[in-house]
Amino acid sequence: MVEFTLPRNSKIKTGKSWPVPAGAKRLKKFKVYRWNPDDGKNPHIDTYKVDLDHCGPMVLDALIKIKNEIDPTLTFRRSCREGVCGSCAMNVDGSNTLACTKAIDDVNGTVSIYPLPAMAVVKDLVPDMTHFYKQYASIEPWLQTKAPVPAKEWKQSPGDRQKLDGVYECILCACCSTSCPSYWWNKDRYQGPTVFLGPAALLQSYRWLADSRDEATEARLDKLDDTFRLYRCHTIMNCANTCPKGLNPAQAIGEIKQMLAKRSL
Ligand code: SF4
Ligand code: SF4
Ligand code: FES
Repeated sequence: MVEFTLPRNSKIKTGKSWPVPAGAKRLKKFKVYRWNPDDGKNPHIDTYKVDLDHCGPMVLDALIKIKNEIDPTLTFRRSCREGVCGSCAMNVDGSNTLACTKAIDDVNGTVSIYPLPAMAVVKDLVPDMTHFYKQYASIEPWLQTKAPVPAKEWKQSPGDRQKLDGVYECILCACCSTSCPSYWWNKDRYQGPTVFLGPAALLQSYRWLADSRDEATEARLDKLDDTFRLYRCHTIMNCANTCPKGLNPAQAIGEIKQMLAKRSL
C-alpha cells in the first residue's frame, strides 16, 4: 500500500502559549498559525488569550490587539477594516472569510485562524497572491470597445446597469477561489498553456461579458472556451457558500457556460 507522509518541515507543531493578560475577566483563546521563512523552523500554532472586555468585536480587532499588546511579530494584512479592500481574508474557524467582518462572538470556543488554504505563505497569515492576481490580469479586466469614443461617457440603460449587480461588488479577496477544491488541484498543477482560472477570476470575467458597453465579448468567450480555464468548475458551490460579500461565482460561471453553449448552436 502506498504511504503518504508530509515533508518533515511542513508539519505544524504546537507553538507558544502566551500568558493570560493581567486582570482579564472575559477571556477568549485564539490559536493562530505562525510561520517565519527566515528562522528555518516548522510552522506552529501559537495560543493567545485576549480580554474581550477591552477588545473590539471583530476577529481583526483581536489580531490587532494581539499585535499591539502581546506579540508584535504576528504578521497579517489589513487596510480598510470594513470589508472593502479584501486584504484581511483568512481562514477563521474553518471557513474563509474577512477577519474585519467576522464577529468574535460568532465563534464558539477557541478561535482558530489560518492563512487562506492552498496558497503559498509569505509569513504567518499572509498568503502569496501573485498567481491569483496574474489570473485576474489574464481576463483583461477593463472596458474594451471598437466604436468611436463618445464625447462624454459610455452610456448604459438602467436595465443594462442592473445586469452588473451581484458581480461588480467583488473585492478580489480570494476567499472563493481558495475554498474551491477544483482550484486547489488545477490552478497551477498543469504546466501546459492553461490552468483553471477559479471562481474569482471567472466571476470577474463574467462582469465584463455582462457589460452592455463592452465590445470584446467574442474574443473573451474564445479565451474562456477551454477545458481547464472554465470547465474545471464542477458546480461544487463552495465558492458561493464562502463569499463574504454574498456573491455567487458559481452562478456567474453557469452564465458563461450558457453564453458559450448558445453561440455554438
Ligand atoms: S467573489 Fe466573493 S469571495 Fe470571491 S473574490 Fe469576490 S468578493 Fe471575494
Ligand atoms: S462551483 Fe465551481 S468554482 Fe465554485 S467551488 Fe465549485 S468547482 Fe469551484
Ligand atoms: S481590512 Fe479591508 S476587507 Fe478586511
